[in-house]
Amino acid sequence: MTSALRKEYLAALGLEAWTLRGPAAASEFVGAVVDEPVPAGAAAPREAAPREAAYDWPQLRERVAACTRCGLSATRTQTVFGVGNLQAEWLVVGEAPGAEEDARGEPFVGRAGQLLNAMLRAIGLKREQVYIANVLKCRPPQNRDPVAAETIECLPYLDRQIALLKPKIMLVVGRIAAQNLLRTDAKLGALRQQVHTFGPSGVPLVVTYHPAYLLRSPAEKHKAWEDLKFAREVFARG
Ligand code: URA
Repeated sequence: MTSALRKEYLAALGLEAWTLRGPAAASEFVGAVVDEPVPAGAAAPREAAPREAAYDWPQLRERVAACTRCGLSATRTQTVFGVGNLQAEWLVVGEAPGAEEDARGEPFVGRAGQLLNAMLRAIGLKREQVYIANVLKCRPPQNRDPVAAETIECLPYLDRQIALLKPKIMLVVGRIAAQNLLRTDAKLGALRQQVHTFGPSGVPLVVTYHPAYLLRSPAEKHKAWEDLKFAREVFARG
């Protein structure tokens, strides 16, 4: 973990005074040819979350629905657990629910979700074939970025979802999700086009742009298309 991110986590835990010792259709994504993939940089796995570690899917869903671990429980309409095929080989991870997701209780159902569906279709995947979840299960007010205390409380739920699902590949969309899962503060541009790994079983993890960003910056879609093709190759390599 980088020192800036570590500081933020320590501050959220009230430990800021401590000093650490030691060291769509593819036509929506027309274009670019994929460069040779850069070899893997592995991410450190997070420690297992003791409270969730034994939960099955229904228990975990119930636990999340009742969660009051952070202040977002006071402002949410409902939790947004995740959706998809429990046998999915692909896990897509985003940042946090937005207004439509908060209202409907399902991730990626707004405009960004429609683009995500198109991105998946572009590499031959139906939404129903994959599993989709977020780092945060509750909507941050005004869609602000998650704060460290919220991700610290919420990530164990995603960790358990990953342990239950055992995906063959993770496609992580957007800087916030990528930084939290890889425990880095590197920019998204530095994280894409690499095979990272997640957790003790070393699930391959590929990073790309968030569909909401692509809606704002459509000129970047060709890069997302490179990333999607890259992810498809990583998956095919097994
Ligand atoms: N953005 C996300 O990161 N997740 C959603 O579920 C919706 C929008």
